[in-house]
Amino acid sequence: MELAGKLKEHTSVVHRQTENSFFMKCFIRGMLEREEYARLLASLWPLYESLEDAMRRNRTHRIAGKLYFRELERLQNLEEDLQYLMGSRWKEIPVPDASKAYAARLRELMIDHPHRLVAHAYVRYLGDLSGGQILKKIASKTLGLDRQGLRFYHFDGIVDADTFKTSYRARLDSLPVSEEEEKDILEEALLSFEMNGHIFQELEGPVRQRLGPKAAALETAGA
Ligand code: HEM
Repeated sequence: MELAGKLKEHTSVVHRQTENSFFMKCFIRGMLEREEYARLLASLWPLYESLEDAMRRNRTHRIAGKLYFRELERLQNLEEDLQYLMGSRWKEIPVPDASKAYAARLRELMIDHPHRLVAHAYVRYLGDLSGGQILKKIASKTLGLDRQGLRFYHFDGIVDADTFKTSYRARLDSLPVSEEEEKDILEEALLSFEMNGHIFQELEGPVRQRLGPKAAALETAGA
């Protein structure tokens, strides 16, 4: 099996766990409020800022550089959504410690282990192009958003997400990685899901409080 297939298989259990996290369940069921959705976007800001800076700076790296796609960059779209949803107050939204820790990890990799960045690019961008497209429809319906506020999930330079994902997977398969480097990337992909999960855990507190007893019912419900 090649790298793209290995990544999918290696992360399938943590993917399911992430999908079934309390915060994501609330999102899928249309139970988030606008401000909670904005908090999610704000918590992703440090992550994308670091990921995209790291990918750009490693544009010529023999491995990470092969996965740099300008059209995937999300930071500007995130900022436009936040500005639309919260005005300039978005800059005051408290960022979860887990987001700061994630950004710090990415900065570390940018310098010391750029090949591991491939795992984070895979998890976030293929996630945004997959489950993200489902979340976009839900947010549109339940939060009454149209283009504005949903730009994070919209890729101007990508006409067809499935076609892009196919070529992205082919690019993953063609990376000139050693056995050791491949192991590192698989390990890092698990860490990425874990760190994303920590962000969702920090975001769920205020949602639980707002929902009160309904939160306990969600706990036992399937996705
Ligand atoms: C409730 C939330 C989510 C739903 C409903 C969801 C759903 C899906 C679905 C249906 C696919 C398969 C798409 C395809 O094969 O083309 C997928 C793939 C993927 N998702 Fe999610 N997802 C969710 C959350 C996440 C999160 C939070 C992340 C990362 C932080 C993520 C990362 C990925 C990745 C990396 C893939 C690509 C797997 C591969 O083909 O290698 N997903 N998701």
